[in-house]
Amino acid sequence: MCGIVGYVGPRQAVGLLIEGLRRLEYRGYDSSGIAVLNGSGLAVVKQSGKLSALEQRLTEYTPKGTVGIGHTRWATHGPPTTGNAHPHVDQSGKIALIHNGIIENAGAIKKVLEQRGHTFKSDTDTEVLAHLVGVCYRGSLEEAVAEALREVDGAYGIAVICSDEPDVLVAARKGSPLLVGVGDGEWFVASDASAILSHTRSVVYLDDGEMVVLTRKGYHVRDLAATRIEKPVNQIEWDLATIERGGYAHFMLKEIFEQPDTVRNTMRGHLLEEEGTARVSGLNLTDDDIKRINRIVITACGTSWHSALIGEYMLEELARIPVEVEYASEFRYRNPVVDDRTLVIGISQSGETADTLAAIREAKRRGARTIGLVNVVGSTIAREVDGGIYLHAGPEVGVASTKAFTSQVIALALITLRFGRLRNLSILQGRQIIQGLRALPEQVQEILDRAPEVEALAERFWRSNNALYLGRGVNFPVALEGALKLKEISYIHAEGYPAAEMKHGPIALIDENMPVVFIAPKDAVHGKIVSNVEEVRARGGQVIAIKNDGDDQIKRLASATFTIPETLDLLTPILAIIPLQLFSYYVAVRRGCNVDQPRNLAKSVTVE
Ligand code: AGP
Repeated sequence: MCGIVGYVGPRQAVGLLIEGLRRLEYRGYDSSGIAVLNGSGLAVVKQSGKLSALEQRLTEYTPKGTVGIGHTRWATHGPPTTGNAHPHVDQSGKIALIHNGIIENAGAIKKVLEQRGHTFKSDTDTEVLAHLVGVCYRGSLEEAVAEALREVDGAYGIAVICSDEPDVLVAARKGSPLLVGVGDGEWFVASDASAILSHTRSVVYLDDGEMVVLTRKGYHVRDLAATRIEKPVNQIEWDLATIERGGYAHFMLKEIFEQPDTVRNTMRGHLLEEEGTARVSGLNLTDDDIKRINRIVITACGTSWHSALIGEYMLEELARIPVEVEYASEFRYRNPVVDDRTLVIGISQSGETADTLAAIREAKRRGARTIGLVNVVGSTIAREVDGGIYLHAGPEVGVASTKAFTSQVIALALITLRFGRLRNLSILQGRQIIQGLRALPEQVQEILDRAPEVEALAERFWRSNNALYLGRGVNFPVALEGALKLKEISYIHAEGYPAAEMKHGPIALIDENMPVVFIAPKDAVHGKIVSNVEEVRARGGQVIAIKNDGDDQIKRLASATFTIPETLDLLTPILAIIPLQLFSYYVAVRRGCNVDQPRNLAKSVTVE
């Protein structure tokens, strides 16, 4: 999720751009840059690292000019280096472009441009787009941008300036937010209103497929076919903090509600329907490498360890490879059996968790191939593994991990497809899994649309002091994750258990004060779960059940239920976890807890 800001007006641009980028820091970034039209051409200054590093560069050299663009980068293609930072310029050096999103066909376009003699300085899809605009430029920047955008697939929010048109800024949107700030004789573009709130509260929201052309006299909105579009000017009522949370009360809630998009983004570009498999070239594993693997170890901590357990069910069921899931803190200190036919997968949202990093290093020392499922591009784990899959879930600010968890499970499903189809998984099974994956974003949205039902459930149970979460099979890890969510943000003691294991001890805890949450979809072990629910009811326990539509057995037995759509058994965790994330959130809010920064916790545990 990059940050974009642009300015056209009578004032010097650099200070306004930096102030805007400062406001966008919460979106997470690893590098930043600005471009200004300084009367004699294009001045571009960019820098990896924090915004303060760019500001330091700008104290040494401050370009003059009143038209400019600025960008904070959350890397998706290419590591977070100064060379990969935005803005990027075209072959002529006259056009500068900043971008938020992913150009899916950048590789193909780059090949064609290289054959025409273009040279590239970065590994980014954005630079390819800048060169494409340059190729399309024949005296009109807005027409060049429109023509280039008609050639690209993917998602973008862009802003573009050209030294041959010193009074113009062109911006466009498809899939990444972009708005116009209407000032007093000055105009802005930005990823969100927080970047420009100190200058104006009058904004025009662009919709997908729309462009805006800013000049010193004003602006107009059009589509890619040059049809003018009248847009209303809105007044921003929110304060800055609320804007940064996208209007949600907490980052955690915003990130829970981002999951239809983040689940889609993790899959984007990987699914090959025809062959019923997944393209995961980032693993850097050939077919032969994959066939040589005779054992997989997945190592992680916390929520990431829970997604690893789901990966174990997937890979053993569909790829028939023995899988062991290890707490990273344990793996690193015992004497694990690892050799060059072992694949070690490290899962980490932050890519900086000390125990997981140490476990990966130990695995490499013992000769294993290592891959990482990581959200933060360019993080230490991402740089030290032999290959991997980036989650593309965007910055996860809330300490309690939510969207990273569902993206991790999606990434594990992609690996399962790739590995399984090189073994016993048939093309039809593969296509069925892809169909199930494709349906997930809308199914997640359907659940989120019923969030008030979960809030009502939380209202009934927020006073509890303990809770038990029970699930079977691939939903046992969901029980663990649901319990972790509740305990870490509401401070209620909650435990996750395999449902059948309850009889071996935890059943002693059951009474009318102990809510017991069952993950009870209509899967292969549904009958067994019904028996477990009956055991709890027989002891006066209050059952909250996550169930599928039409399950009257569970409905009759449970004190409260929440219905989720049906999907493949192995994909159920993606749907079952959503109401549990919401439940823990609403309970914690009702208990007056600090949801985004729970006591004693850090977002990334970079120490042992
Ligand atoms: C989960 O909600 C917690 N914040 C915590 O367990 C977290 O999952 C764990 O620290 C691992 O973090 P990582 O994914 O960044 O490695």
